[in-house]
Amino acid sequence: MKIKFAASGSASGSIAVAAYDKATLTVVGKALDSDAGGAITRAMKASRFTGKAGEIVELVAPSGVDADRIVVFGVGTKSKVDGNGLERAGAGLVKKLLTGGETALTVSLEGVADSEGASRFALGCRMAAYRFDGYRTTLEESKKPTLKTITLITDDEKAAKASWKSWEAVADGVDMARDLVNEPPNVIDPPQYAKRVAKLADTGLEIEILGEKEMKKLGMNALLGVGQGSVKESQLVIMKWNGGKKGDKPLCFVGKGVTFDTGGISLKPGANMDEMKGDMGGSAAVVGLMRALAGRKAKVNAVGIIGLVENMPDGNAQRPGDIVTSMSGQTIEILNTDAEGRLVLGDALWYAQKEFDPQFMINLATLTGAILIALGHEHAGIFSNDDKIADGLTKAGLASDEKVWRLPVGPEYDRQIDSPVADMKNIGEGRLAGSITAAQFLQRHVNGKPWCHIDIAGTGMWPGSKDARLPTFGTGFGVRLLDRFVRDNYEK
Ligand code: BES
Ligand code: MN
Ligand code: ZN
Repeated sequence: MKIKFAASGSASGSIAVAAYDKATLTVVGKALDSDAGGAITRAMKASRFTGKAGEIVELVAPSGVDADRIVVFGVGTKSKVDGNGLERAGAGLVKKLLTGGETALTVSLEGVADSEGASRFALGCRMAAYRFDGYRTTLEESKKPTLKTITLITDDEKAAKASWKSWEAVADGVDMARDLVNEPPNVIDPPQYAKRVAKLADTGLEIEILGEKEMKKLGMNALLGVGQGSVKESQLVIMKWNGGKKGDKPLCFVGKGVTFDTGGISLKPGANMDEMKGDMGGSAAVVGLMRALAGRKAKVNAVGIIGLVENMPDGNAQRPGDIVTSMSGQTIEILNTDAEGRLVLGDALWYAQKEFDPQFMINLATLTGAILIALGHEHAGIFSNDDKIADGLTKAGLASDEKVWRLPVGPEYDRQIDSPVADMKNIGEGRLAGSITAAQFLQRHVNGKPWCHIDIAGTGMWPGSKDARLPTFGTGFGVRLLDRFVRDNYEK
C-alpha cells in the first residue's frame, strides 16, 4: 500500500474527513456535507456517531459528490488530538476499508494534524495494512486487500513529505519485525534468520555474523549450550549503524532470538507450543529498530546484537544439572533447560559491553511467562540499574503507545539465583517473582554498565488484540518504543 501527500485531493475513490466531539465536522467536512445535501449530518445522527476517537461512519455512493464513499472518522476533543490518537484513527480507517473493494482513499487532514501528526496518521495506516498472507494459496479473491493508495491532504505538503520519510522507515522496521516473528520456525531458523538480516547491508548497516566456531573461541558456552541440541547452527549477528559523531560511544540493543523454544529436555507441554516460534521477538525488535535507524539516517551510533539459537531436546541436548562457564567467566548450573533465554542474553550482553563499551545496553526478550501474569499484553516489563534509562523508556512508551512498566531488581531477589555448586543457577526459588529473578540473572552479565531489560513475552506476541494497529500474533513491539527513545534523547 502506498502513502502519498498532496495539497489537494481527487474527488474519486473514497474520501475521509475528520469529526471532533459532538460530531463537529472540519471546514472541509462541512463543505462536503453541503455538496452531499446534508447526508453526512444525517448519517452521523442515524448511527449515533459523536466524533469520539475511534468512531467511524461510512456513506456508500452518496449523491451530489463524485466519491464512491465518504467516511467520517472521530478524533475526539480538538485540543487533545495527539500522535497516538491520529495513529489509531488512520489504523481504524484502513481496517475498515482494506478489503472492501475500494482502491484509493483520500483523507483530509487539513486543520486536523500538523506534518508530524500526518506522519503518525500514516504510520497507523501502514500498521493496519500489515498482512502475513504469503503462505496462503487458496485465499479467496474477495478477502484480499484492495486498497492500494492513500493520499493525505495536509496544510503543509512539503513538511509532511519530509517528516514521513523518517516515519516510513519506522513503519518498514515494524513490518520487518512482524514478519520475522510470524515466519514459521522451519523458515526462520538461526542460519536462515542471519541470512535475512545480512540483506540489510543494502540499507547502510554493517553486518557481521559469528558462527559456533567463533563463539566457542570467545567462550560463549551459555549461549552455545542452548543450541547444542539443535541441528541448526547457532549464530550471533551484529548490526552497526554509524550515523553519529565519530568516536561517540554507541547505543547498544541486544535481542533474544530463540527461533523455536521447545523447552529442551525440560520439555514444554504440547498445547500452544507453536507460539514459541515467536520466542525471537526481542531479536526481531532489534532488527526492526536497526532497520528504522538506518532507513531514516538517524544521527547516532548504534549497535544491534542478536543471539540466534533453537532450543531442542536431543541426544546431544543440554541436561538439567549441567554446569557451563559463560563468556564472563562465571559458572552457571542449568536447573531447567526451558530457562534458556537468559543464557543466550547473558553471553550476548557480556560480548556487547566488552566489544563496544556502549553508553548503555537495552535488551529485549520474550523472557518469562510470569510477565504475562503480571502485566498481560498491555505493558512490557522493564528492569534497570539506571533511573534515567527507565524514566526515558517510560516516557517513550507513552509517546509511542508501546507502554512499559518498571518492576524492581535488588539484592533480595538476586540471592535467589545463588547456586550451592556454581556461581549461579538459571532459575529462582519456586515460582515467585519469576520475571525479576530472570532479570537478576541478566544483571549479573552487564558488568555494572547502564542497562535495561525489557520483557516482551506479553506484548511481542498478541493473538487477539482489539487495537486496529496490531495484527494477529507478531506485533513488532519495541521498534516504535526504542525509535522514540532514541529520537527524543540521543539525536539532539
Ligand atoms: N520463552 C519462554 C517464555 C515465554 C512464555 C514467552 C510464554 C512467551 C509466552 C521462556 O524461555 C521460558 O520458557 N521461561 C520459563 C522460565 C522458567 C522455566 C523459570 C517460564 O516462563 O515458564
Ligand atoms: Mn524457555
Ligand atoms: Zn524462551
